[in-house]
Amino acid sequence: MDDMKWTLAGLIHTALINTYPQAEGLPAQEEIAGLLEVPPERDMGDYAFPCFKLSKALRMGPPMIAGALAAAIDAPDVCQAKQLGGYLNFFFNRVQFAQKTVEKVLAAGERYGASDIGQGKTVCLDYSSINIAKRFHIGHLSTTMIGHSLKRIYDHLGYRTVGINHLGDWGTQFGKLISAYKRWGNRQEVEQGGVEALTRLYVKFHEVAEEEEKTSGTHALEDEGRAYFKAIEDGDAEALALFNWFKELTLKDCARVYDLLGVTFDSYAGESFYNDKMDRVIDELRAKELLSVSDGASIVDLSDADMPPCLILKKDGATLYATRDIAAALYRADEYHFDKCLYVVAYQQDLHFRQWFKVVEKMGYPWAKDLVHVAFGMISYEGQTLSTRKGYVVYLEDLLQRAQEKAMAIIEEKSPGLPDKATVARQVGIGAVIYADLFNNRIKDIDFWWDRALNFDGETGPYVQYTHARCCSLLRKAAEQGTADAPADYTGLTDDHAQELLRQMSRFPEAVLDAADKNEPSMVTRAVTEIAQAYNKFYYENRILDAEPGVREARVSLTRAARDVIKTGLYLIGMEAPERM
Ligand code: ARG
Repeated sequence: MDDMKWTLAGLIHTALINTYPQAEGLPAQEEIAGLLEVPPERDMGDYAFPCFKLSKALRMGPPMIAGALAAAIDAPDVCQAKQLGGYLNFFFNRVQFAQKTVEKVLAAGERYGASDIGQGKTVCLDYSSINIAKRFHIGHLSTTMIGHSLKRIYDHLGYRTVGINHLGDWGTQFGKLISAYKRWGNRQEVEQGGVEALTRLYVKFHEVAEEEEKTSGTHALEDEGRAYFKAIEDGDAEALALFNWFKELTLKDCARVYDLLGVTFDSYAGESFYNDKMDRVIDELRAKELLSVSDGASIVDLSDADMPPCLILKKDGATLYATRDIAAALYRADEYHFDKCLYVVAYQQDLHFRQWFKVVEKMGYPWAKDLVHVAFGMISYEGQTLSTRKGYVVYLEDLLQRAQEKAMAIIEEKSPGLPDKATVARQVGIGAVIYADLFNNRIKDIDFWWDRALNFDGETGPYVQYTHARCCSLLRKAAEQGTADAPADYTGLTDDHAQELLRQMSRFPEAVLDAADKNEPSMVTRAVTEIAQAYNKFYYENRILDAEPGVREARVSLTRAARDVIKTGLYLIGMEAPERM
């Protein structure tokens, strides 16, 4: 919670006790802090305390209470309190507030908003979780960036975090791929073509299998594919070697994308990692009498939870996606002793997660309540829905390439003399994509448009980065001019614009906490955007470098503080902060 809220809540609390010593059940300081609101209009003050709840307990009209409290609060160093209808409105002592806020930010620097509330706690994050032998397309952007951002946010709050790329590296499709490769592929072509060559082979497999079915009604090719998958499962050396090679190729492909995005993982334990950990799940489900047989398949009945059954084993005894997720959760609980395990996966998989979370609960694991599906919406590209089936895909590597080229074109036009243009183009282009992905509530669908993402005005990545660069530039000029001996005079920060910026900055730590609480990186995106907007207003409305001594120092300090908070905010959503643009 921000310091001002806490301080005001303390003042209200004391005033309440002094004014109504007889009253019972007065709210505690915490509760009061939770009730404080930001008034709708700037001229109504910085915070307002609604007295409607108290009115019942005290059997008195809210305006009466607000008036009595206003009279009882006497703390000119902190604020002025005024009754406004049924509210008690607070107007900060602007000089004190400015000094406190700037000093607090500068003392913390880029650690501003950090905390130790996560000390001794572990959060596992399952994100990106790409599928082997498929190219990284933009459908996997949100899981990758939301997961990466949440990891940084939890780190900032002192948690131990474990980032897991739960690779989709198991299933009959890999048998089919081996079959296709042995029939039509060759090493050189795949070595050169990478995952794209694999995709071509896979598509061909399906075409030929379909043709076979149509012309002769047989499924010899499909059977061959299944047989190869069985060979991988049985540890056949050749099949396994091919499978591992396909996996390596995919990971090499993805590593280029991860490098561009700055995304890292602590573990790549994917579905196949749990091959030898499946028996435990089956045995345990059986021992706990949760398994039943339906149509030859083994299931866990979930009718008491109003859900279709969770499929554990197919007719042929093969395990399923859910079985592997249960095995993975048991493993993570043993290995990492998580306090929370997050699954950053599209909302389409909502039922899957609810089902197997329920199974784990039925198994009697208390940590079932700590499993969280962090769902997000769909992404479309310039108005077009992506569909692998209809052949409309946008590969992430291509998108990031285009982003850098477009950013470079803008830089060439706006600031051709900029040093190290390629680096800045990378930071801005990639940043624009990340920002567009993390701006809205994660559950909302996203439509990605270049014009919107790369606009230097409005709510975009480049806009926020540009504001950071503007602060850096001003600080460089201030350093060149040298420092005056005058101490900072905080009366120079009492105008509405400076105060609005200070207010936004003082709320930043709460935004970070809320973002973790709701697993919602967009709360940080919005906070940092509002700070950037507020800084720009302050910058346009005030003289800074040529202000009188003292005032100049205060405004330069505020600029330094804004720079630190913006840099931290961008870092927490996975963006870089160029110093020149
Ligand atoms: N590989 C899956 C997909 O692309 C996502 C896996 C998500 N993680 C999990 N533990 N189920 O759809």
